Amino acid sequence: RRHILSLADFTAAEYDTVLQTAASFREVLGRRTKKVPALQGQVVANLFFEPSTRTRNSFELAAKRLSADTLNFAPGTSSLTKGETILDTAKTYLAMGTDMMVIRHREAGVPLAIASEMDRLNTQVAILNAGDGQHEHPSQGLLDLFTICRVFDPENPRLDLLRGKKIAVVGDILHSRVARSNIWSLTATEMELHLAGPPTLLPKWFAGLGSDRPGKLFLHWSLDEALADADFVMTLRLQKERMTNYLLPSLREYHQLYGMTTERLKLCRPDVKILHPGPVNRGVEISSELMDNPDRSLISQQVTNGIAVRMALLYLIGVGKGG
Ligand code: CP
Repeated sequence: RRHILSLADFTAAEYDTVLQTAASFREVLGRRTKKVPALQGQVVANLFFEPSTRTRNSFELAAKRLSADTLNFAPGTSSLTKGETILDTAKTYLAMGTDMMVIRHREAGVPLAIASEMDRLNTQVAILNAGDGQHEHPSQGLLDLFTICRVFDPENPRLDLLRGKKIAVVGDILHSRVARSNIWSLTATEMELHLAGPPTLLPKWFAGLGSDRPGKLFLHWSLDEALADADFVMTLRLQKERMTNYLLPSLREYHQLYGMTTERLKLCRPDVKILHPGPVNRGVEISSELMDNPDRSLISQQVTNGIAVRMALLYLIGVGKGG
């Protein structure tokens, strides 16, 4: 596999390869000398047409830790402002010798469109989707999976550790590309995945995504029902920027009905862990107290693990390209 556009067709073997490669890079990141020469001479371009803090910086750091050269693109100061198209922008980076392009865009399908153009031109450039509209965010899905597996075996994270475990994914499922990628990655394990949210943000058709997968998918419009005996709870950001007014609940009402709080933890297993892909609306989808609780919250670990997982993706693709 050269491009990483979606987790929908990832195989169990591919998940385990990424998890184990990321585990070895997580160990490298704990050393005093954190750099390895694996991608020396390769060029990684971060083409972020939509804002990002975690994904953009961790892809950049991951590329640097692998000794690749990095190019960063800022749409506001680029020739997009003079009318250059996205495809011509990508071709410009191709002409500069870019080997891998990491792409985020507010519209679903832009990474696929660029990958198709790179293939049509018969190039070896790899495209990594860093979040496209409401479609997918594959590297986030992989880092969430890695973080969950590490709870059981940090040295040897793998899918079979999650057999029989239960995770609740809560909130704005409709607009969340993270939820889409997590539905694919978590149902690739033999976990129970319980989606919870208000009916406007969790339409019934999501249930169909769980058929024919090793894991089981359930839908709940009641949060308390979804939390019963959960081992993990992943809260999602309320994506106000993607909502029309009729979908937008009052933030107070949303927190009362679907906000994750210390009180609600009592419904879950005693050792439950909380995740959030970030950025967080503090006090809306999760209380500040719970977010900052080091015994429960894996949010900082998700960010740290993101570097190791993105190193694994760049490494596996870069080495496959002969780098
Ligand atoms: N989780 C995530 O994609 O965060 P950023 O938007 O900061 O990259």
